Amino acid sequence: FVHQLADESVGMEEILVSPLRLEPESAFVLPPKLFGAGRKNSAGLDLEVATQRAALQTAFDNLTVPSVPEFDAKQAASAYATSATSYKIWSKAPVAERAALLRQSADALEHQMPRFCAILVKEAFKTWGDAVSEVREAVDFLRFYADEAERIMAPVALPGPTGETNELRLSARGVWVCISPWNFPLAIFMGQVAAALATGNTVLAKPAEQTPFVALEAVRLLHSVGVPEAAVQLLHGPGETVGAALVALPGIAGVVFTGSTPVARTINRALAAKDGPIVPLIAETGGINAMLVDSTALPEQVVDAVVQSAFRSAGQRCSALRLLCVHEAIADHVIEMVQGAAKELVLGNTAEWATDVGPVIDKEAFDGIQKHIQRLHSTAKPLLAQSAPARAAANLIAPQAFELKQVSDVAQEIFGPVLHIVRWSGDPQAVIEQINALGYGLTLGIQTRIDSRAHALAAAAHIGNVYINRNIIGAVVGVQPFGGEGLSGTGPKAGGPHYLYRFCAEQTLTVNT
Ligand code: NAD
Ligand code: ALA
Repeated sequence: FVHQLADESVGMEEILVSPLRLEPESAFVLPPKLFGAGRKNSAGLDLEVATQRAALQTAFDNLTVPSVPEFDAKQAASAYATSATSYKIWSKAPVAERAALLRQSADALEHQMPRFCAILVKEAFKTWGDAVSEVREAVDFLRFYADEAERIMAPVALPGPTGETNELRLSARGVWVCISPWNFPLAIFMGQVAAALATGNTVLAKPAEQTPFVALEAVRLLHSVGVPEAAVQLLHGPGETVGAALVALPGIAGVVFTGSTPVARTINRALAAKDGPIVPLIAETGGINAMLVDSTALPEQVVDAVVQSAFRSAGQRCSALRLLCVHEAIADHVIEMVQGAAKELVLGNTAEWATDVGPVIDKEAFDGIQKHIQRLHSTAKPLLAQSAPARAAANLIAPQAFELKQVSDVAQEIFGPVLHIVRWSGDPQAVIEQINALGYGLTLGIQTRIDSRAHALAAAAHIGNVYINRNIIGAVVGVQPFGGEGLSGTGPKAGGPHYLYRFCAEQTLTVNT
């Protein structure tokens, strides 16, 4: 260890050995809060786990995912008119009333957890563990934004001269268009909608084409607790027609978009080309997320973090690891361990409890990722080039890893279980500069036992979410506010204390008393 440090010219006085952060045995097991440890059944399965599994399995067995009728883009103006009328009433309701409805929605969602998990497994091919985490995240968004709206929408008294009062007040802006992706079709959908509603706006919600049913059920749930039907309307259909028509509506007050960087640009251009008021855009987009590993890092911790970050959810997280930059002194060791660990993952249909890595979302995504893998076979060194087991689920891609020469060889976000690996030596700050130069700025991992180095690298990175000595996925609402910069988005961070401000107009009220 000291020998390796000498190689990187670090004095012993700079070393502060970070405690080994033990991850749960596998991030792929069902999360402990719902499935807590307890007594065992005759098969040795924790009783609480067994009961919860039975509830989830029953919901799954009883579920048919119907097709959801598409919205006719020609009706966009009339959907807007309905929303604008509803806005006049909804925006005037006390914030406490709106917050109460969101909390009731959270309670209802918790109550219906098995059904929503089953929908996520059937419609979006989530593993059971990912489905449970996602429903929880949606519940968290509802409660968090309810609390936040009450916090920030209370008028703030400001200082002023004698004979004058000053107050800053926040109010809703109007009708928001919420456009969401398929990879978190409940949590992100619900987060956007809850933020807009909590602050008194009304919503035209456009879910991803691939996952309309979970969005429809989410909207039905909001309506069932008393959110007016006109205050949140679901308009399902293709992005190029329905999404574009909503963005083009003259009266909208804002767009919140989560999805790919190219589509964010298209929306940004469409908004900029419109006459009338300047319409705010919140864009949360993709990333080429890296993990920088120096020679002092703990290989077991690194491998656990890499396998979870790159391959969980079949790599279909915006936060997922795409680029591992590992110091050459430990590169062979780490690569060998990643190869071994990745081969242990269970691949298959996500309806099976044991599955760690399921299929990618559809044939189009499968073909695009396969094309990238084929290109890598002729331009990079394959380190993990498995094929999916025969008779496995359709659109399944086995985790892949390729060694590339330099950071800049990774040119675009590949939304699947493909890890690019680059060796480095010399100054780690130079590696951070190369990562910055990619232009994205969503998540970054740093693995080192030198605390001063970890903090210096984090400070130099133009990245929204930096994780030191752990995996880089699974940001928790209110704990790790989430969102990037540069090509990764506009901010503000979802699940953070500044998010709701962007949905509000501000008024300073000065009264001469
Ligand atoms: P996408 O950009 O293809 O689609 C996202 C949404 O935009 C869909 O609802 C789609 O119908 C709509 N859309 C498409 N064209 C449109 C247009 N011209 N006008 C209006 N709307 C249009 O993204 P996707 O494939 O659904 O999701 C994966 C992408 O989302 C990845 O790039 C991922 O990194 C990103 N993502 C980012 C975050 C984040 O928080 N930063 C979170 C999840 C996913
Ligand atoms: N918020 C999700 C994560 O951090 C995208 O993985």
